[in-house]
Formats: sequence, structure tokens, C-alpha cells
Amino acid sequence: MDGQKKQQVTCYLVFSVSIVVIGSLQFGYNTGVINAPEQKLRAFFNSTWVGRYGQPISPGVCTLIWSLSVAIFSVGGMAGSFSVGVMANTFGRRNSMLIINVLALIGAVLMGLSTLCASFEMVIAGRLVIGLFCGLCTGLTPMYVGEVAPTALRGAFGTLHQLGVVVGILIAQIFGLEALLGSEMLWPVLLSLTAIPALIQTLLLPFCPESPRFLLINRNQEELARKALVRLRGCEDVSEDMQEMKEESMKMAMEKKVTIPELFRSPLYRQPIVIAIMLQLSQQLSGINAVFYYSTGIFESAGVTKPIYATIGAGVVNTVFTVVSLFLVERAGRRTLHLLGLAGMAVSALLLTIALLLKDIASLSYLSIVAVFAFVAMFEMGPGPIPWFIVAELFSQGPRPAAMAVAGCSNWTSNFLVGISFPKLVEWCGPYVFIIFMIFLIIFFVFTFFRVPETKGRTFEDIARGFSGSANPASLGQPLPQQDESTLSASPTKEKVPLENVPAEDMTETPQKPSSNT
Ligand SMILES: *[C@@H]1O[C@H](CO)[C@@H](O)[C@H](O)[C@H]1NC(C)=O
Repeated sequence: MDGQKKQQVTCYLVFSVSIVVIGSLQFGYNTGVINAPEQKLRAFFNSTWVGRYGQPISPGVCTLIWSLSVAIFSVGGMAGSFSVGVMANTFGRRNSMLIINVLALIGAVLMGLSTLCASFEMVIAGRLVIGLFCGLCTGLTPMYVGEVAPTALRGAFGTLHQLGVVVGILIAQIFGLEALLGSEMLWPVLLSLTAIPALIQTLLLPFCPESPRFLLINRNQEELARKALVRLRGCEDVSEDMQEMKEESMKMAMEKKVTIPELFRSPLYRQPIVIAIMLQLSQQLSGINAVFYYSTGIFESAGVTKPIYATIGAGVVNTVFTVVSLFLVERAGRRTLHLLGLAGMAVSALLLTIALLLKDIASLSYLSIVAVFAFVAMFEMGPGPIPWFIVAELFSQGPRPAAMAVAGCSNWTSNFLVGISFPKLVEWCGPYVFIIFMIFLIIFFVFTFFRVPETKGRTFEDIARGFSGSANPASLGQPLPQQDESTLSASPTKEKVPLENVPAEDMTETPQKPSSNT
């Protein structure tokens, strides 16, 4: 996509981006890390309970504490994603990343000392702090990467965040092996291992430059911005980049900022924001995080003898298909990919249900592995990356920050709902639990089919015209009602997952169209 642009990738740029992308790894790691040691954590809750109250914990309370430990991560994540904009504009991108590593250390200490202190509350508190940290990471990392990458390579660099996340999940799953850190003794180390990348990043971030864009636009320090750019680009003449940043910020200043309430009130934005929310919900309520948080337990109940290896396999499939989709997304339409992904996930959910029902037939335990792998692969085809693409493509500079905030909030909320309710749902529905996600997937498929326009390669004006053209949402029983802010919490009664959740607030600053299509 960048043919004749002069080669601008210097060692210093690669170094800086590598250090910063540790933040993406952290988010992935902490998403995946809780999966493997489920039984050990449950045993720890139980023994703590016995120590305090002299009787075993009731299974209901144990499940509650377990799901809270998993899901409170998303509560922190939401708070974090809402704080990104303020932090990044106050302290700068790089310094914010330095500061938030303190959160990773606090969270790691809380979780790491929980067994010594015989306190499961420390696990929950640690997960909350780590969630806050990760919410900030998912905003700051893509923002910084987008701002230091050469314009022509922004799309390619932007995918590094996504890759960092899936690799982080995979690393967590591997370290979760019983032979490594997933044992009864070592699981606190597994949870607090997040401190090591935090320390490495803290040591090396001071050698990375502050984002030139922040220096120039937010701080108006032209000389410092120029110096940073010279080092990043490896050539003295950076006037082109400087000029481009100035023009971008002028364009941004010209377009009026839209607030969140305006987003829901204005007929111009109502339809796009409903689509943005629904797509975020489709990502999380697809049940993907049920797999990333709880797959080891799922495989166990499907009769797989070494469930952890199946979980690691799911991480590998996830990584491979993330790479595949990076190529596909540049070529195929967003809408097509999303529909394909949703349909594939629905079929996989059905397969998984069959596998769970027939777990007594030994040979069918493999069916559950195939089903989960297909589920994850299809997720990365569509519902993983596409919702973020579409938000960025439906909204121009003015309303985009508000739209991104709403999207991020929907994403984390539905992530939390899936995380907190899945263990209970398993108790209630047993092997039928994935039927719930299948129903959601079908609903979202129908919604996408009738309501979501193709955005690839179209201008904002063109897309907006499409909306006003079909202003009467008549075709289907999917009314696009007069929504106000209450929609956010009230409308879709489902859950979603935060997997790729990316640039919550960040895109605010980074006019980074994830797709630099021809
Ligand atoms: C808790 O531990 C006791 C043994 O100390 C065991 O009998 C009981 O099943 C355990 N309860 C749960 C919910 O794991």
C-alpha cells in the first residue's frame, strides 16, 4: 500500500514501538492468565474459607468469588479506557505509560501475596487494579504507535497492537501449564508475572521519545517535536511530517467536537452510533471471552484429558487467524467478513454444544476442540477486528472521540457481563450454555445483514447519505428507536467481550484509519 514512499523505518523507531507494544502484551496476558489456574484458585478460596470460618465454602459462593475475580478486570478496564484521553493529554503518551506501570506493580503484588496473606480479596483487588492498567494500555499503546509511525505505514504498525494482544494471551496460556507456573504452589507467581514486562518497560521507556504529535499539537513545542521526529525518521528533513501533523490538527480543530449526548440526540449520528454499539456487543456477546477466560474448564467438562493443551491450541489458532485477518481486512469488505465470522461462530457454538452433550463418547471430546478452534478462528475473521474498524469508519474526526468512548464503554460492559455470568450460566444450563451465545450470534447476524452498511473504501459523506436514504427503518423488526444515553446500559441485554478492544479513547488523537485501503 505504500509503494514509492521512502523507507522510513529506523532502528530507533522499531525499538520505541517494541517497547511500547509491551502494553498490548500486558492486556493479552492478563486476559488469558486467569484461564488455566481455575481449579487452583477455587481450592485456594475454599481453604481460605475453611481457615476463617471453620467450614468449607459453599459451591455457590465459590463460583461467585471466582467469577468476580475474573470479571472485575473489565470494571477496571472501563475506568481505565475512560481515563486515557485525560492522561495522555496531561502527561503525554510516553510518561503516561511510565506512570501506569505502577498499577501493574501494585496489582502484581496484591495477587502475588494473596496466598501468603490468606486473602482472596487481594486477588479480586489485584484484578481490579490490573484491569485499570490494561484499560489504559489498550488506549495508550495504539495511540503512541499511530503517532510515531510514518503515515504510509500507519495501518501496518496499527496491527502490531492487535498482534501483541493475541501473543500475550498465548504466552499466558503457556505459562499456565502445570509444569510451569500453573501449579498449586506457583499460580500467584503466574498472576504477578505481569510485573516483569512492566519493569522492563519502565526501564526502557525513558529512552523512547515522547510522541512528536503530542509535543507539537498539545504542547506547542515545535523544536522538541522536530528533534523527536529526526531521531525516529533518521533524517534531518522532517518538514513534511511536521506539516502533515499541523494540517491534521487544523482539520480537527475545524470540525466541531461532538459530545456523547449529542451523539444520541442528533438524527445524523443516531443510526451510526446504534450500529457501533451493536457491533461492539456482537463482539463480546458472541461468547469469545467465555472461551478466553474459561476454556480450560470447558474442555474439562467436554472430557478432554489434557484441557490446558487444548487451551494453548486455541491461543495458537487465535494468533494465526489474527494474522490471516490482517490480510483479509485489507481486501474483503468489513460487512462481509463480519457476517462470515458471526455465521461461523454460530455453527461452531452449535458444534460445541453437541460435543458437550455427547462427552461420554470418548472420540467426540475432539469435536469440542475442533469446535472451539473454529469458534476462535471465526471470531478473528470478523467480530474481533471489524467492530473497531467500523466505528472509526462511520465517524469523522468531530464525533469520533465520543463514538469511540461509547463503543469502548459498550465493549467493556458486555465483557464484564459475560465474564461475571458465564460460570453461573454453566451451572444453570450445563452443556446448553453455548446455545445462548448461538442465539445472540444469530440476532447479530440478522442485524448486521439488514442494518450495517459496507464502509470499506467509502467516504463519510457517502456513508451518511446511505443512512438518510434509508431513513425509515422499516424493512425489519429491528426498529432504530429514539435512543438517548440510557440506551447504553439498557438496550441490548447481552454481554460482550473485550478481546481486541483496542483503541477506546485513543483514536481520539490518532486519526488512524485502521485500514489504509487503496
Ligand atoms: C472445599 O474443601 C472441602 C475439603 O476441605 C471439600 O470437601 C469441598 O468439596 C470443597 N468445596 C468446594 C466448593 O470446592
